[in-house]
Amino acid sequence: MSTHIGARPGEIAETVLLPGDPLRAEWAARTFLRDAVCVNRVRGMLGFTGTWNGHRVTIHGTGMGMPSLSIYANELLRDFGCRTLIRVGSAGAYQPALGLRDVVLAQAASWVSTPSTPYLRDLHLAPIADWGLLLAAHQAAARRGTPVHVGNILSSDTFYTERDDHTALLTRHGVLAVEMETAELYLLAARQGARALAILTISDHLVTGEDLPADDRERSFGEMFEIALAAAFA
Ligand code: ADE
Repeated sequence: MSTHIGARPGEIAETVLLPGDPLRAEWAARTFLRDAVCVNRVRGMLGFTGTWNGHRVTIHGTGMGMPSLSIYANELLRDFGCRTLIRVGSAGAYQPALGLRDVVLAQAASWVSTPSTPYLRDLHLAPIADWGLLLAAHQAAARRGTPVHVGNILSSDTFYTERDDHTALLTRHGVLAVEMETAELYLLAARQGARALAILTISDHLVTGEDLPADDRERSFGEMFEIALAAAFA
């Protein structure tokens, strides 16, 4: 057991898929894994371990935002020895070329601040995806015929912002989308010598104002989990 994960030693797999929403973790475990067993329910942050094509996998929620993700990613990496962490989540688009339900592979994640910022002080490290996972996810998506966008995203600390000028700046610099977890995930994985990737579905558009209805998101989430599993065990 760790402070926030009630699993016993050995109950968490080396490969972990990380949706923000714990109920999405339960849905994905029941949909994609064989013999899925609930291994954590501390504070309602559900985690399940099962197998996919004979490989052991855990699917565990992270909650929203980098402070919450940092708690679970730290404990998975340090206390449970996890080696591959793949975030599966949603993002808001900055580029007109992106549409609702499009899939983004986060090659890098820009940030305004992260929980690591105080430790890094004047170092502005670029949080980047593991190249092998990124390539494998791209190939898995191509095999499925799922078009993907690959590039820079922003990991923000705020869903609601007063800085209206940010959208134009980020669009101009080619940043694809905004979400709230990946930069810290990439920094923690780098620090622990582990592999990380974020696969995101566009749920809203910051330029056009479009929004995906909540019940319309399941199909896109299913695609991301399938790409994530194929990439993890490529
Ligand atoms: N996740 C999905 N849409 C988002 C947005 N617009 N801002 C931050 N995180 C998001």
